Amino acid sequence: MIPSEPEKLNLNTKESRSGAPHPKTFFIKTFGCQMNVHDSERMSGLLMDSGAIPVENPEEAEIILVNTCTIRDKADQKALSDLGRLRRIRKEGGILAVTGCMAQREGEELFRMVPDVDLLLGPSQIRNLIPLIERTSSGEKHVDGTVLPLPEMTTPPAFRPEGATAFVTVQEGCDKACAYCVVPSTRGPERSRPVEDILQEIRDLVNLGYREITLLGQNVNGYGKKEMNGNGAFFTLLQKIHEIPGLKRIRFTTSHPVDMSEALVETMKSFPRIMPHLHLPLQSGSDSVLCRMRRGYTVEEYRYWAKLLRREIPGISLTTDLIVGFCGETEEEFLETCRAVEEFRFDGAFSFIYSPRPSTPAYALDTMPPRDVSVKRLERLQAQIESQSSEINRLMEGSIVEVLVEKWDPETGVAIGRTPQFRNVKTKVSGYTPPPFPGDLISVRIESSSKTGIRGTAIRIIG
Ligand code: SAH
Ligand code: SF4
Ligand code: F3S
Repeated sequence: MIPSEPEKLNLNTKESRSGAPHPKTFFIKTFGCQMNVHDSERMSGLLMDSGAIPVENPEEAEIILVNTCTIRDKADQKALSDLGRLRRIRKEGGILAVTGCMAQREGEELFRMVPDVDLLLGPSQIRNLIPLIERTSSGEKHVDGTVLPLPEMTTPPAFRPEGATAFVTVQEGCDKACAYCVVPSTRGPERSRPVEDILQEIRDLVNLGYREITLLGQNVNGYGKKEMNGNGAFFTLLQKIHEIPGLKRIRFTTSHPVDMSEALVETMKSFPRIMPHLHLPLQSGSDSVLCRMRRGYTVEEYRYWAKLLRREIPGISLTTDLIVGFCGETEEEFLETCRAVEEFRFDGAFSFIYSPRPSTPAYALDTMPPRDVSVKRLERLQAQIESQSSEINRLMEGSIVEVLVEKWDPETGVAIGRTPQFRNVKTKVSGYTPPPFPGDLISVRIESSSKTGIRGTAIRIIG
């Protein structure tokens, strides 16, 4: 599956509908997950390759893109309210495009909801962005890029902000069918990217100065299952990436319990540049809820992986996603989730109230607990997660950790970066010449932790 080169066009050479020079400044507003953040980087890359220039302010942009999320109803509401604002400030003759998962889910309905929108583009159609913009600027009204046939997986050139860390897509789409989730319908079936493409992109990133990469995929640990006929492809990929000289840290997200393997745990244990952090969504601590969610595993199966990870990789951080108030959730089932959070000693968790999504299997069910019950459950769960997480932070006080510097502020002498376990630390650095650069590792003594974060003092610049 070798993707062909996306079409190259020069956006600056043509006349636009208004007769003005062709749109050449652009602004992207991004909602949603890391994949969407990276999709915006890819769209920026394509636009810049075509001669367009990014601007900080939407008022100055001739092309405005709103890269949307639709995972919960709130995500839709946020995107729609932003569209309402951007619609009013768009330039005469400019282009307003809606991209991302909400664009894909709503399709042409969005043209009815916000008639000022010129162009729709789903996450799988990013490679077609420039030709579709061309169609819009040659006067075609309401160009709908969500109805195009699904192209092969594509990874257009991404434009990333300068820094030490970068996202790299290894897999797109999702073949699972969790009853509550829109992602399979917005991002299409699961596709894995060829190994050599991934390795080349990472080598190029290291040459540009990036020192940490995060591999992205909806079920990243199931990478290559389809293409390479079976398990094992992901841990082999990690081992190959580990050989790239100059790369200091490897992360990946999101993993799925069903796609876990002993070989992956062994690889995480034996290859030191793979960071000791796994984001492994549990969703619920109740087998009956997991079954209704169609997650494909039981709590006992999750327990197997949690125990193995804690035993084999001491100090590993285990984080998760949880949904409360799913269809038919009883108080007892909710309490099972609270007990699981305690048992698995999650270092952190994203938790949400279930939001019914059109076109998902669970949408038709109307057995959700009353809203006020779910709100209370979420509050209780979040209080528990926060207290566990603060306790872990508190236990770090006095310890020495390695931090990869992401930002350095010479004014305050503070470096911001993360521990191997993905904890954010603000480090006071004084008396070092030269000071640390983004991408340097520093040894830090943790002095304090509070709700506002973890603070420490540098004791050595490792480099
Ligand atoms: N592929 C990943 C998750 C992608 S979506 C996985 O399977 O774990 C990120 C998170 O959003 C999910 O883990 C889930 O907790 C949450 N989520 C997805 N659909 C939701 C819905 N309809 N209502 C509430 N939360 C939802
Ligand atoms: Fe959604 Fe489930 Fe796929 Fe994750 S695995 S993206 S929750 S369908
Ligand atoms: Fe991400 Fe939201 Fe789509 S979470 S995959 S942008 S629905």
